[in-house]
Amino acid sequence: MGKIAIGSDHGGFELKQMLAEHLKKEGYEVVDFGCDSPASCDYPDIAHPLAKAVAAGECACGILVCGTGIGMCMAANKEPGIRAALCGDVYSAKLTREHNDANVLTLGARVVGPGLAEMIVDTFLATPFSGDERHMRRIGKIEQR
Ligand code: RB5
Repeated sequence: MGKIAIGSDHGGFELKQMLAEHLKKEGYEVVDFGCDSPASCDYPDIAHPLAKAVAAGECACGILVCGTGIGMCMAANKEPGIRAALCGDVYSAKLTREHNDANVLTLGARVVGPGLAEMIVDTFLATPFSGDERHMRRIGKIEQR
């Protein structure tokens, strides 16, 4: 696994810090795209640079945290080649890797607790894309709209 990009706005700052420490302890190389304090900031300012780094292959995948995870997901998915998935449960985290080959996970820090967030992240990172032809075909059609 290559570098893991991580970022948040103020709403996700505390959870982002916790997840970054968790990932470092697990041996991942983590690249932090901010924010650097709980001061109010705009989630697209974090999501766009992170999404560009993942789309360019500089980071293997990304994790974005805001209050709901929704704004981060909307912003990240504007970048061609990014398939960002908002996950609030472990089943979705597993299936979005197996079926959608999601390369960015978004989380709502005001929706999920830290324990569940850790399990979602661990599941997302541990699950490979199935590589099935039907899933590859469907993913291809996302970019061909
Ligand atoms: C910030 O209050 C909040 O709007 C943001 O963290 C996020 O939930 C947006 O989608």
